[in-house]
Amino acid sequence: MKSNLLFLFTLFFTAFSQTITILSPPAGTEVSPGQDVTVQLAFPNSLTGMEHISAVIGMINCAGATCPTDATDTLGIPLFMGNYTPQFHEGNLPPYQNFTVTTPSTLAAGTNMITAAQFMLVGASASPVLQFANVTVNTPANNRRATMVRGRVIFV
Ligand SMILES: *[C@@H]1O[C@H](CO)[C@@H](O)[C@H](O)[C@H]1NC(C)=O
Ligand SMILES: *[C@@H]1O[C@H](CO)[C@@H](O)[C@H](O)[C@H]1NC(C)=O
Repeated sequence: MKSNLLFLFTLFFTAFSQTITILSPPAGTEVSPGQDVTVQLAFPNSLTGMEHISAVIGMINCAGATCPTDATDTLGIPLFMGNYTPQFHEGNLPPYQNFTVTTPSTLAAGTNMITAAQFMLVGASASPVLQFANVTVNTPANNRRATMVRGRVIFV
């Protein structure tokens, strides 16, 4: 019985890593300057008492260069700052919260990075934990939108 329980616990922690994850947008998504993007920030359910406090969604304008590698240096331009309350929605997904943010109008063409930071308290001792996640997206060089005018496609 005891070993069965241990097995279940091990299974649980293997199946769900205890880290925040950006489920959407997936890496490589095309993201234009000033566009609304839904960032789906997930956190696996946990057995240990943990209290989600807050999250920051940011965007780093990598400006055609290599994106920074250390989240403690910069989250880029903050697009959302506030409460984080992940919840179960679809049964096959871990608890998550959607944040719809508007990308910076200054975004350069090339590879850019959406960043997330999450702050929580873990366990009876309320240990503070700060976690990071990010995803690289692609800003197309041509940001003009195709529009139909009198039956013809024009770019605005
Ligand atoms: C991106 O995420 C990784 C962990 O997946 C982290 O090590 C790295 O510091 C993050 N970088 C930025 C710039 O947020
Ligand atoms: C959250 O956003 C994702 C991606 O856009 C979408 O598939 C999902 O239905 C949204 N969930 C809720 C609860 O709005």
